[in-house]
Amino acid sequence: MQTNMILHGDCIEKLKEIPDNTIDLIFADPPYNMQLKNILYRPNNTKVAGVDDTWDKFESFNEYDTFCTAWLIECRRILKETGSIWVIGSYHNIFRVGAIMLNLGFWILNDVTWYKINPMPNFLGTRFTNATETLVWCSKSAYTKKYTFNYKMMKKYNGDKQMTSVWHIKLCTGEERIKGSDGKKAHSTQKPEELLKRVILSSTHKDDIILDPFFGTGTTGAVAKKLGRQFIGIESEQNYIDIAQKRIDSITTLWEESDWIEK
Ligand SMILES: C[S@@+](CC[C@H](N)C(=O)[O-])C[C@H]1O[C@@H](n2cnc3c(N)ncnc32)[C@H](O)[C@@H]1O
Repeated sequence: MQTNMILHGDCIEKLKEIPDNTIDLIFADPPYNMQLKNILYRPNNTKVAGVDDTWDKFESFNEYDTFCTAWLIECRRILKETGSIWVIGSYHNIFRVGAIMLNLGFWILNDVTWYKINPMPNFLGTRFTNATETLVWCSKSAYTKKYTFNYKMMKKYNGDKQMTSVWHIKLCTGEERIKGSDGKKAHSTQKPEELLKRVILSSTHKDDIILDPFFGTGTTGAVAKKLGRQFIGIESEQNYIDIAQKRIDSITTLWEESDWIEK
């Protein structure tokens, strides 16, 4: 199977082209269906850059559930028996996604909380500041005990203490955040590489094949390349594919696992 490439199109269609039981790890960062109805302003009247992209919009919960069921069925089919899947989401969607995954036969191994060290404030002061996202990590079924988990590596990375399911990681900002020619964020939901480092390092081996059906700016592909894994990305928007390809092509320095652990 050809790897280290980005497929252009709808992920449900593209996933159907991938043979059964061939993928070691899936990382999925799907649309969150955030249902933002109004423009949000800061107290100084500047507009908050929320996620108002067309690709994040669904007519109803029912339509969103149908979409998630379709891509998750394909993901389960292409996963190796020893494979696993990570799906990230927020309170807007993760409970629906988690229920669908359980109904399809996936087995939850952990729900990892990404604690954002620098979250966006709740500008209106109407709720608590939302400072977390959830990653659901699942094996293919309750009967597959041989999924990859690099327990010792993650313990060492965590200062010789067992790594917990709460990960303190900054939002993707500064140099790491890809900008367009207008100086604005090129993508509204680019994930931090540190998050993908932990996902990939904990649940794959070198040369494993990692598939991301919602590739965006290619964070999964960039980290996979740096860690010596293979990747397949799927993305519906050509401009994001161009950004992701350029990003991945520009990587020349790879991470040695041992270097990374020592940091
Ligand atoms: C939440 S973003 C992923 C961001 C990515 N993790 C990153 O770090 O840049 C979701 C991405 O999925 C893409 N997308 C949405 N629906 C899709 C579909 N049906 N098939 C393929 N891609 C889709 C969007 O264009 C968007 O780039």
